Amino acid sequence: MKFNASAKAFANVALVKYFGKRDRVLNLPDASSLSLTLEPLQTVTKIVFDESYKSDKVLFNGDVVEGSAATRISSFLDIARNLKGITLKANVDTTNSFPTAAGLASSASGFAALARAVDYALDLKLDDTALSAYARRGSGSASRSVFGGFVKWQRGEKDDGSDSHGICIKKPSWWDLRMIVGVADSGQKSMGSTGAMNLTKETSPYYKSWIKSAQSHVNEAVEAIEKKDFQKLGEITENSALLMHGAIMGSNPGIMFLKGTTIDAYHLTVEMRKKGLGAYFTCDAGPQPKILCTVEDAVKIERELSMLKGIKKVINCKIGDGAQVIKPYGTSIEDKCSTLQ
Ligand code: PMV
Repeated sequence: MKFNASAKAFANVALVKYFGKRDRVLNLPDASSLSLTLEPLQTVTKIVFDESYKSDKVLFNGDVVEGSAATRISSFLDIARNLKGITLKANVDTTNSFPTAAGLASSASGFAALARAVDYALDLKLDDTALSAYARRGSGSASRSVFGGFVKWQRGEKDDGSDSHGICIKKPSWWDLRMIVGVADSGQKSMGSTGAMNLTKETSPYYKSWIKSAQSHVNEAVEAIEKKDFQKLGEITENSALLMHGAIMGSNPGIMFLKGTTIDAYHLTVEMRKKGLGAYFTCDAGPQPKILCTVEDAVKIERELSMLKGIKKVINCKIGDGAQVIKPYGTSIEDKCSTLQ
């Protein structure tokens, strides 16, 4: 028996950040968050389940993945295998079009693409809401990359996490916003987001107020998106990122994801705003600065950021679609059964 599928998904960048879990096993957040799914930051994943495989094998950008990263993917596949009642091992081959694990949300596109491919190959028939809750188990932010456009990940109230999933607030065509992503350092970041989140929750005196701000920011951001109020959405975006980094820095021992170039990009953004450009800074758990802007100002902002000392690359991102199966490749359990009949 052999079942396979390929899928692709874009990364996302949160305008209102997620940073803190209420359940570490199920990846349930303490607050809701909101993001833009971003093209062309893409992961393409191929999965093959085959009865001849003795164990799972994971290739990432052509290299074999071992240790805790490989265990994380096997545990993620186990959730689907248990659901289907099978024990078939799998080969996973995944490729990213952008620098990984340096604050560019690669786990979001990675687990969203993997969830979509697994769903198709094993014919789980999960709807997008259930698929988002499944992707969330791999990485919290992956729950948002299942959807395209403007996406809210609602905190949910239930202990089993069934109400904690992404929701598409608006499709990509609603509003042509851009995210200019600067690559300041393409190396691995000093600490993973999960470790940093847990330490922040346990030790930062600012954690509680950070979570409170996120909850109200999400509601305000949804309203700003509905009204296409760019200034309001931009202000929320910048404030959410700075509040998150403030809480992170307040951890003990302290955590500092921002580098000199990141801070310079923040000041550049403020300067550009003074000159009349619609530009708002954001940054995730890594040193890469990102600037939210309108399509009208995107090329100017891209040029300014690319000239900043320490910036190695700039990616002008538009709002993209959700995770999709790549056709015609892929044989699901159901396809296989119908050809056997
Ligand atoms: O999905 P995770 O566990 O890698 O967490 C992502 C956290 C941030 O990127 C810092 C914020 C966010 O909401 O994407």
